[in-house]
Amino acid sequence: MYLWRHAAASLPLLLLLLGELTSVLAWMKYNSYTATSRKRTDLRRRCPNVRAIRNFDLEQMMGYWHVVQYYASTEELPEYACMRSHFAFSSEDQHITMNFSYIFAEDPLREKLQGNITWLIPDFGTPAHWMHTEDIYEGIYNTYVLDTDYRNWGLIMHCAEKKKHPRYLSALLLSREPTLGENVITFLREKLPRYDIDLSFMFSINQTSCDHLMESSKDDPLAYIVNSQLNSGDNFKIINKL
Ligand SMILES: *[C@@H]1O[C@H](CO)[C@@H](O)[C@H](O)[C@H]1NC(C)=O
Ligand SMILES: *[C@@H]1O[C@H](CO)[C@@H](O)[C@H](O)[C@H]1NC(C)=O
Ligand SMILES: *[C@@H]1O[C@H](CO)[C@@H](O)[C@H](O)[C@H]1NC(C)=O
Repeated sequence: MYLWRHAAASLPLLLLLLGELTSVLAWMKYNSYTATSRKRTDLRRRCPNVRAIRNFDLEQMMGYWHVVQYYASTEELPEYACMRSHFAFSSEDQHITMNFSYIFAEDPLREKLQGNITWLIPDFGTPAHWMHTEDIYEGIYNTYVLDTDYRNWGLIMHCAEKKKHPRYLSALLLSREPTLGENVITFLREKLPRYDIDLSFMFSINQTSCDHLMESSKDDPLAYIVNSQLNSGDNFKIINKL
């Protein structure tokens, strides 16, 4: 269960991806403003039927992406910046691993948080459909590549069904570059309402000034972690909760 503990440590994106309710509370405490809950009309019990992209070339999809927009059925406010992900396929165990990093947009220290997620491909006839390797949901938890041109943009969606809860659904709009043209963004966003995604909850992720984030340490329980760019007394953070 190491990954699960790790998930608790790097809350928000794993929340985004794994839908852990307690993280919401931790986040609300972290942020000074109170979440204004707008009534959502996009919550459904069941995951939609998804047709993943055909003739999908997994190899070409791998590599480095910027997450320029995201949606999650558990998220009501934009809160992340500098979200990036790296996909790699290991032919050894046939798993896809996504490493990701991000910051809280409101974090004055711009501390980089990281995590990873691993999938398997249940049927190599449909390689754009992935399933989690971690056994964290009693129900189904599927990831689909909805579309990509490999070289510039991509759109992936996750959906989980959990007993007695609304489905958990999220979508990530990916770009090889930090910015993506408005027309492509619009084209990709328009693929989502058919899955009952309310686009007003699909948020942009700021990708400006993301190259020198403060590194976070997971190992040293009382470390003062200072990014090489920073050296004044204000620019440290005590990591004491791990
Ligand atoms: C994921 O990130 C870790 C730590 O930064 C790195 O060692 C590893 O090679 C990365 N793996 C992939 C698949 O990108
Ligand atoms: C994924 O994260 C775990 C926990 O931090 C780490 O032990 C593992 O090496 C990571 N895997 C990859 C492929 O980066
Ligand atoms: C994006 O982030 C940069 C750097 O923090 C900031 O200066 C800029 O105002 C942000 N843009 C938006 C639209 O929030």
